[in-house]
Amino acid sequence: MSGRMRIAVMASGSGSNFQAIADAVRAGAIGGSLELLICDKPSAPVVERARREGIEAFAFSPRSYAAKADYELEMVQRLQERRIDLVVLAGYMRIVSNVLLEPFAGRLINIHPSLLPAFPGMNAIGQALDSGVKWTGVTVHFVDNGMDTGPIIAQQPVPLFAGDTVESAAERIQQAEHKLLPEVVQAFCEGRVTLNGRRAVML
Ligand code: GRF
Repeated sequence: MSGRMRIAVMASGSGSNFQAIADAVRAGAIGGSLELLICDKPSAPVVERARREGIEAFAFSPRSYAAKADYELEMVQRLQERRIDLVVLAGYMRIVSNVLLEPFAGRLINIHPSLLPAFPGMNAIGQALDSGVKWTGVTVHFVDNGMDTGPIIAQQPVPLFAGDTVESAAERIQQAEHKLLPEVVQAFCEGRVTLNGRRAVML
């Protein structure tokens, strides 16, 4: 790839991972540019974070489109217009379809708060606590058609302690997320992530 990698983030909520990427770009720890936020909840705090950072936000209500394919097509158009190289799903609470997956194959990654394939889907931290595991963690993976099923790029274990609540565990897990996700994005910027079948490698 020639020039700096152009990055977009998709998010639905608080946007602390969006913030971690924005901070890392500003600090030079990510050698790319953060060009666009896509958010399916116009009132989500992440939209305000983008405004504060001076990053363009496309915030839309899925309800105002006839079908999912329609807003995903608009996303693709906006991503392509801005020549986005890497799309990071960071708390984007929808399954993406082939409309988005195909044009961005191999360039779409997601962060999930468990050591996948354990505890995919919603409430991953609550699932881990309820199951009694002593370690959970964070996974960054390529996105495919399934729910948190794509090839795994990087993982970071995080301990669970007796007496943990979803909130106390989430705090520890988010700290790990805010470190791991910028590291993976930077690895992309440096061409250190490859994919061969199910096996992703981050050098
Ligand atoms: C993170 O825990 C991420 O793993 C999950 O959604 C959460 C988003 O948090 N996919 P934030 O909006 O980045 O603070």
